[in-house]
Order: sequence, then C-alpha cells, then structure tokens
Amino acid sequence: MKVTQLDCLCVILLHLLHTAGSEKFEVLGPTDSIVAVAGDDIVLPCYLKPNISVEDMTVDWLNLDIIDGRVFRYQNSEIIRDDQIPSYRGRTSLFEEELWRGNTSLKLTRVQGTDEGHYKCLIQSKSWYDDFTVQVLVKAVGSKPVVSIVGHREGGMGLLCESEGWHPEPELVWLNSKGVHLSAGPPEIHRSFKGFYRVKRHVIVQETDTNRFTCRVQQRQINEKMETEIHLPSELFYTTPWRMAFIVLCCLGAITVIGLALAIYCICYKKDDLKKESDELWEQNHNNKERFCK
Ligand SMILES: *[C@@H]1O[C@H](CO)[C@@H](O)[C@H](O)[C@H]1NC(C)=O
Ligand SMILES: *[C@@H]1O[C@H](CO)[C@@H](O)[C@H](O)[C@H]1NC(C)=O
Repeated sequence: MKVTQLDCLCVILLHLLHTAGSEKFEVLGPTDSIVAVAGDDIVLPCYLKPNISVEDMTVDWLNLDIIDGRVFRYQNSEIIRDDQIPSYRGRTSLFEEELWRGNTSLKLTRVQGTDEGHYKCLIQSKSWYDDFTVQVLVKAVGSKPVVSIVGHREGGMGLLCESEGWHPEPELVWLNSKGVHLSAGPPEIHRSFKGFYRVKRHVIVQETDTNRFTCRVQQRQINEKMETEIHLPSELFYTTPWRMAFIVLCCLGAITVIGLALAIYCICYKKDDLKKESDELWEQNHNNKERFCK
C-alpha cells in the first residue's frame, strides 16, 4: 500500500487532535438575546462542550459595553473581586456546584437599567480558550405619569407631566381628548445611577369643549405605555392674568380713593381742631394778660 501525502496529513491531524483533544473545548450559550425585567434575577447561560470541569480554569464574564472592569471572575477556584465593575457588586455569582461539569452560567440578581449590554463568557485553560457572547436587554415599565397644573402661561394653562423608572428611554406625548398630539415643550430626560429613565414635559393648553388632556408615556420596543388624564375646570381658564390684574388694580384704586378721602377728612378735622385750640389758647392768653395787666 502506497502512503500518499493526503494520508500523511490525515495521520498528523489525527495525532494533533488526539494529543490536544483533552484540552480543547467549545464555549456555548443561547443564540437569542435575553430579555430581563428590571428587579428580577436572571441566569446568563454558558457551558463547555465537552462538559469538562472548569475548576482549574479561569472564567471571566465581561460586559462589552462597559470598557473598564469585569462583571465576574473565577480563577484558581476563587472568586476574584478586584476590577469588578461597582454596579455589579454583590449581585453576581456562578453555580459552584455546576463548575465540575463545565456549567459556568452567571446568576445576576435585581436587574437594573445599567445591566443592558453584550456579555462575553470567556473561559481559559492553560493551553486553550474560547468565548461566547450573549445580549441582555432590560425592560422596565415606569410609574403612572403625574400631571400637575403649573398655572397661566402665555395665554393658556401650563401643565407638567412626569414619569420615572423606564428602560429603555421612553417617549412622552401630550394629547387632547380626540387623541390628537399637542405641540409641547422639549422632553427632559434624566438617567438615574441605576440606569432608569425619568422623563418630564411641559405643555400649554387652551380651553376646549371637554377640557380633558392626556399625558402618555410609551416605550415602543417593549410595547408598554402608561397614561394619566386631567380634566381642567373652565373657571381655571377664566381667571386669566389680565382679569386678575384688572381686579387687583380696581381694589388698589378703591383703597387709594378711600385712603385719600380719609386723609383729607383727617387733615380738615385736625385744622378745625387746631384752630379751635389756638383760639382757646389765645383767649386764655388774653385773659391771663388782662389779669396780669390789671
Ligand atoms: C456530560 O455530557 C455527556 C454527553 O452529553 C452526558 O452523558 C453526561 O451526563 C454529562 N455529564 C454531566 C456531569 O453533566
Ligand atoms: C447550569 O446550571 C444552572 C443552575 O443550576 C441551570 O439552570 C442550567 O440549566 C445549567 N446549564 C447546563 C447547560 O447544564
């Protein structure tokens, strides 16, 4: 039998596979992204194929969207906490009883907005490494919007709507009773340190036949919305600033007139009094003088 070059190559390859086989492994996980509800505990699956023990390997979990630091590290049978991203402190763990059979799934508790990202599970032995990346999406439905009346603004009534605790960033719209969008001020968005969004937006409304206005906060990606309707009594619109100013001016005018009248009356009365007094004084004086001269 002739030994061909191809046979030779096959033998070499087989030999390589045989010697290195005990060290080689693949790292696997879910192909679909994981949708986590804020506040829940989740498991990010990751495991070795073949299911060999990782107890003497290094297991790293990284959030690729956060450059500095790690989510979790297991090395030399210990949990390494140096370089851990602060927002993950006290919230991550591996299933230690599963490590001997190559299961390096990560448990993440109390999911928050900042947890969204691409997570890499990287496993290194002395002679081999492989990794797998899974995407985590965080879903949080915020609070029912709170609507407050700001007061008279530019010939209408100023309203403010606020809602918090959203992820991803929501949209806030103002609607009239027919569901038509009202033109409103720019939305103001703030992000909490846990990564949740708070949104607020002003609007100036004019009187309508219903005086009903709705603030809607919605997040289309997670198909969620929250609404609050407000009904404004028409009297609110009547007491416009001009009317108020007019009433105030009238009151001020009346007070001034009464005040002036009083002042004039007092002055005249005092004058009379003074005159009487001085007359009396003069008379007294006169009498005295007369008495003195006598
Ligand atoms: C490892 O995988 C093999 C084959 O898939 C299976 O028969 C075995 O039960 C697994 N071992 C452990 C400890 O899970
Ligand atoms: C790994 O362990 C976790 C927790 O016990 C379990 O939910 C998961 O199914 C395991 N994964 C594999 C591939 O065995």
